[in-house]
Amino acid sequence: MKRRLLFLGPPGAGKGTQAKLLCKQQNLVHLSTGDLLRSEVAAGSPLGKKAAEVMNRGELVSDLLVLSIVEDRLVGLDQGWLLDGFPRNVSQAKALEDLLLKISQPIEAVVVIQVNDDVLLERLLARGRADDSEQVIRHRLEVYQEKTAPLVDFYSKKGLITPVLGAGQVEEISRRISRSLI
Ligand code: AP5
Repeated sequence: MKRRLLFLGPPGAGKGTQAKLLCKQQNLVHLSTGDLLRSEVAAGSPLGKKAAEVMNRGELVSDLLVLSIVEDRLVGLDQGWLLDGFPRNVSQAKALEDLLLKISQPIEAVVVIQVNDDVLLERLLARGRADDSEQVIRHRLEVYQEKTAPLVDFYSKKGLITPVLGAGQVEEISRRISRSLI
């Protein structure tokens, strides 16, 4: 069966780290909207230029822009996939639902990686990406609570949520995620 997974969690929860490991283990395509947007920024494309300033402030890039990136990559994909960092709000989740209905690929599970704010802040400050200053991290956490956290309830109602504790060693968390998806 082709897996169709979604990783949800606050900035620094380890979505990207864990998604890479699981995709390697299970031969899935890793679709991270953050990574895709950063590639556009690095390439200096018109899309990247629009996105860069918004990302550096820790705000969400427009739904339309992100949706076009995801749709381009999902349609016609003949392999299991894992979405990381998308959807980010209820309107993106509804648009994704419509798209997946159209291509007959319903979501199988939504893994929510749970980590407390102190640990998130410590991890992100240590990384030091362009949007990892303390002020921007705190704003990203607020944006997460306001716009993305309601998706836990959205997907709970559909019976899709799999919560996983994201504290501890990378390998230990990876085993927890794999076990939760058996
Ligand atoms: P995005 O790239 O999605 O960033 P994020 O959600 O803020 O997530 P991070 O990459 O910070 O954290 P992560 O959970 O992936 O953790 P990671 O594995 O990297 O989005 C960035 C921006 O793009 C957004 O703010 C927005 O502007 C825009 N954007 C993206 N998607 C969008 C969308 N759908 N709609 C609109 N805008 C969108 O780990 C973090 C650090 O911790 C790393 O250094 C890692 O090595 C370390 N680490 C991981 N696990 C552990 C562990 N167990 N122990 C110790 N360290 C660890």
